[in-house]
Amino acid sequence: MQSPNGRTADHPINPIFLERFSPRAFTGEAMSEADLLTIFEAARWAPSSYNSQPWRFLYARRDTPMWDTFLNLLVPGNQGWAKDTAVLVILISKISMSVPGKEIPIQSYSHSLDAGAAWGYLALQAQMSGWAAHAMVGFDLDRTAIELDIPADYRVEIALAIGRQVPPAELPDDKKAKEKPNGRTPIATLIREGKFAK
Ligand SMILES: Cc1cc2nc3c(=O)[nH]c(=O)nc-3n(C[C@H](O)[C@H](O)[C@H](O)COP(=O)(O)O)c2cc1C
Repeated sequence: MQSPNGRTADHPINPIFLERFSPRAFTGEAMSEADLLTIFEAARWAPSSYNSQPWRFLYARRDTPMWDTFLNLLVPGNQGWAKDTAVLVILISKISMSVPGKEIPIQSYSHSLDAGAAWGYLALQAQMSGWAAHAMVGFDLDRTAIELDIPADYRVEIALAIGRQVPPAELPDDKKAKEKPNGRTPIATLIREGKFAK
């Protein structure tokens, strides 16, 4: 099946999986609080170990006092396009969790994995709501922890930028080429029935 954006899936899937991608051309439009809460609400329903829900989302909306603080955490290459998004997010995950039968919290094996699932839900909901979410590791992790007062029991995971994508048809040709969604490794390379085969 083929998406209008040129991506092809080898097996039938919901079109949203092909439509979601990570653009770098954004309009600068601000986001309503209702849309933002819908996007975070979807992330809230991700599965997690012991339902520990270790994800926390710190965010700054454009045209608010914290925007520049968040934007300045990004490497210059990411700042260049993220400045035109609507919301910047730092996703962190809680390293310890409470589990039934244990009096003191234990270290979670999967806090980062759980946060990754929440990011995936967020990205798909953003797409369904007419926005686009773009993840980044290109930001200053140490400065993020300090400047955003993140406690030691949390791992800084990724930065996210959520914004309204510029329709590719409205971009000049050189930028249009850069906004072409990429493909994927063949599924036969990714899956194996049974043992890992060398
Ligand atoms: C954890 C993570 C970190 C990423 N870091 C960056 C980044 O710093 N800058 C950037 O432009 N894109 C970044 N990306 C976007 C990836 O390059 C992109 O997701 C990947 O090429 C697949 O393309 P797609 O999201 O359009 O399907 C990151 C994505 C993830 C999931």
